[in-house]
Amino acid sequence: MSFISTALRLRACRDLQFKLPAINSLLIVDNSQRFNNRPYSLTHKEAPEKMAETIFTKIFAHVDKNKASYKNLLKEAVAIPSISCDVKHRDDCVRMVFWMQEKLKEVGAKTELREIGNQTIDGKEVKLPPVLVGILGNDPKKNTICIYGHLDVQPALKSDGWATDPFELVERDDKLYGRGSTDDKGPVLGWLHAINAYKAVGEELPVNLKFIFECMEESGSEGLDALLIEQLKPEGFFDSVDYVCISDNYWLGTTKPCITYGLRGISYYFLEVECAKMDLHSGVYGGTVHEAMSDLIYLMNQLVDKDGKILITDIYKSVAPLTENEKQLYNTIDFDPEAYRDTIKAYKLPHNGVKEQLLMHRWRYPSLSLHGIEGAAFQPGAKTVIPGKVIGKFSIRIVPDQEPEEVEKLVFDYVHKKWAERGSPNQMRITAQSGRAWTANPDHPHYQAAARATKLIYQTDPDMSREGGSIPVTITLQEASGRNVLLLPMGAGDDMAHSQNEKLNVRNYIEGVKLFAAYLYEVGKLPK
Ligand code: BES
Ligand code: MN
Ligand code: MN
Repeated sequence: MSFISTALRLRACRDLQFKLPAINSLLIVDNSQRFNNRPYSLTHKEAPEKMAETIFTKIFAHVDKNKASYKNLLKEAVAIPSISCDVKHRDDCVRMVFWMQEKLKEVGAKTELREIGNQTIDGKEVKLPPVLVGILGNDPKKNTICIYGHLDVQPALKSDGWATDPFELVERDDKLYGRGSTDDKGPVLGWLHAINAYKAVGEELPVNLKFIFECMEESGSEGLDALLIEQLKPEGFFDSVDYVCISDNYWLGTTKPCITYGLRGISYYFLEVECAKMDLHSGVYGGTVHEAMSDLIYLMNQLVDKDGKILITDIYKSVAPLTENEKQLYNTIDFDPEAYRDTIKAYKLPHNGVKEQLLMHRWRYPSLSLHGIEGAAFQPGAKTVIPGKVIGKFSIRIVPDQEPEEVEKLVFDYVHKKWAERGSPNQMRITAQSGRAWTANPDHPHYQAAARATKLIYQTDPDMSREGGSIPVTITLQEASGRNVLLLPMGAGDDMAHSQNEKLNVRNYIEGVKLFAAYLYEVGKLPK
C-alpha cells in the first residue's frame, strides 16, 4: 500500500499566486443585522442583493425545517460500518458506496462507479471498493466545483470506551454521537442537503458540480491517485473544473469557523524485528535468546525526544524556512491553548503552551509519533511470552518542502545506523508509505468567496488556517485539475474524529448545510 504512486511524486506544488482585488460581496452583513429582518429598498443597484436575500431566506428556512430528516439520513449512513482498514468490513464499504450512489441519483446527478483494482493484504489480493464519480449540471455559463469526500471510517468498538454504540447515531445535549458523524459522513451528506435545499425552494443551482467520493481514505486512498491521473484526467473529467472543495476537517476551536489552506503529509513506517520463528515461553527461553522486543524498543526510543524533537539526522534540513510574513499570520489566529489542553485533559502542553509555537508545530513543522507494536502482548493479563516477531509502527507528519523519498531515505539510513550500533544478530526490516503535504494560496478569490459564505452564516470573519492531519488526495486533486483547492470544515475542533465518542454538533451540521449552500452561491458569482 502506498499513499501516492511514485509517478505522482512531482515537485511540491503551490497555487498560482493569484492577486486579484478583494471582491466586495453584496452579501456581507454585519453582526447586528440578519438580512431576513432588515428593512430594504429595492433600487437598481441593490437588486442582486435582494435576489440573494430572497433565495437565502427560503433556503435557510427550508434547512431549519428539515433538521429531523437530515439527522435521520446521517443515522442511516453511520449505521453502515464502512471501516476501510478491516477487510471483514469490505462489503460494508461497498454497501456504503452504493448507498451514496442512490442519494446522488436522487438529487439528479449522473453517477458512475469506477473500479480501481485490488489491494494486497498479508499476501492476499482484496478488491478495493469502487470510487463514486458524479456529475450534476453542465451549464457552460456556470462555474464547476469538484467536491471530494470520503465514506469510510476508522474502526470503533463500544468497549473502547464509547458511551453508546458507535454505529448508532445518538443525539445527546445537541450533539450527534457516532463513528463518521464528523469524519466524514456528516460533511458529505451536507452537500446533498444543500443541493436538495436549492431544489426544494425552486432555485437553480448556481454552479455545476462534480463529485468524487471514495471509501478508502482512512487507509491511504489506495488506487485513487491512479484513477484521477491515469483515467479521469485523460477522459477530460477535470477540463471543466474551476474549483475544488473538500469538507473533511474541523474548526480550530469550538466557536470560530475557519477555512483551511494547508495539510501536512505523512510518512508511515513499519519497523520489524524478528528473533525466532515463533513466540517463546520466557521461563524456558528467557536468558538464552536475543529478544526482538528489546531491540525494537531500543530503536523506537532513538526516534524522538521527550519534547517532541525528532532525532533523525538532517530531518529538519528541508523544512521551508519561516518567513517574517508567515510568522505574522499566527498572531491573529484565534486559538486558546488552555481550552485545547482541557478538551483532551492533557497534563501540560509542550512549547510552554505558547499559542504560536503550538500552531507552528501542528501545521508547519514535522512531528513524529509512535503508534503501536504488532505482536506485543497488549491484551490485559500477565502474559509471559517472548514475542518471536514484533512490528513497531511510527509516522512522521511531513511538511513543505519535505519530499517523501528524501524523508524515507533519512529515516532508513538513521535506523540502519542505530541498528548497526546495537549489534544485534536478529533480523530487522523497515518499510514505508508516504504522501506529500499540501498548501494553497489563501488570497485566491475562491477563499474570499468561501469567507463571505462563512461570514454570512456565522457573522464573523473566518480564520485562514492549516491542519496537522493529512488527506492524501488533496495535492493530487490540485495537480490533476490545476485549480485552487480549498478545505471548508463543517465540524468543531472538539469533535474527536478517530477517537471514542466522535460527534458532530447539531448546530455545525445544520449551519454547515447553510454554509455549503451559501458557498455554492458565492462561487457561482466568481468570474468564469
Ligand atoms: N479528516 C481527516 C484529515 C484531518 C485530520 C483533517 C486532522 C484535519 C485534522 C482524515 O480522514 C484522516 O484521518 N486522514 C488520515 C490520513 C492517513 C490515513 C493517510 C490521517 O491524517 O491520519
Ligand atoms: Mn476525514
Ligand atoms: Mn479520518
